[in-house]
Amino acid sequence: MNMQEEIRKILQEKNAVLLVHNYQIPAVQDIADFLGDSLGLARKAQETEADTILFAGVDFMAETAKVLNPDKRVLLSAQDAVCPMASQLLPEKLISAKRQYPDADVVLYVNSSAECKAIADCCCTSANALKVANAMESNTVLLGPDRNLALYVNKRSEKRVIPVPAEGFCYVHRFIDFGQLQRARQEHPNAFVIVHPECNPDVQEAADAIGSTSQMLKIAGESDAREFLIGTEREMVYRLQKEFPEKKFFPVAETAVCGAMKKTSLQDVYNAIKREQFEVTLDREIIEKAKKPIEKMLQIT
Ligand code: 13P
Ligand code: SF4
Repeated sequence: MNMQEEIRKILQEKNAVLLVHNYQIPAVQDIADFLGDSLGLARKAQETEADTILFAGVDFMAETAKVLNPDKRVLLSAQDAVCPMASQLLPEKLISAKRQYPDADVVLYVNSSAECKAIADCCCTSANALKVANAMESNTVLLGPDRNLALYVNKRSEKRVIPVPAEGFCYVHRFIDFGQLQRARQEHPNAFVIVHPECNPDVQEAADAIGSTSQMLKIAGESDAREFLIGTEREMVYRLQKEFPEKKFFPVAETAVCGAMKKTSLQDVYNAIKREQFEVTLDREIIEKAKKPIEKMLQIT
């Protein structure tokens, strides 16, 4: 039995479910019970009847699963799989922004700490940020920590969307630059370009479509194009190529690699389920408070 088969066997014996993000390495993607974007993963975490949820992704995803399932065991496959963007917004910063704009609603990207979620009105992911912002009562929305996502929503919504903090970013998407996109277009002149809303505004404007990782799958599936340039973490190309073998997918930037997502190897997944490590623990009070904005998001979408 190879390691992938062994992992699947142990998952079954322990009534555990393996939730995997689209940026994970191919060997881990291939053994997922569910493979998807942040929104899809949160939904699956909410629906699952398994006793244990094993996350191959990053910390905030596993925390969201724990908030939705406080009585289940939630494991993160690599202890140091920590999204650097989530730590760019501290609760104190959010509280001071709320003081500055007392009438605003706070919409928080799931890529944030549970402590920050606990003081938000609603959560969002890149797949539903616009819908969530539009569903808020106030005409002013504070959205963080990703500035580019906030600008994306601001451009498409009637609301005034203010990024908090002013310069929050995902380094993987921020460093996909306009020049790289132009060069990639020259190499693949017939390609349809899809980029993530965490990309810079000039890259978003130069694209043919913008979407979360699962929206990329939908757009690619519905498009008549035969070739695609993908502006997000490089591994997304593996997922798209597997789903649509008759089409061709290329990354806009080969260098767009998320270090946190790449912390997890197949051996880590094996160790995590075998030894039941690394368990996510959160304060009960934080769980209670963070649950409301996460559930509200799931209800809106
Ligand atoms: P989605 O898969 O929700 O588009 O998120 C991208 C991302 O950066 C997750 O860390
Ligand atoms: Fe965080 Fe960006 Fe990596 Fe997603 S891709 S986990 S937002 S650093």
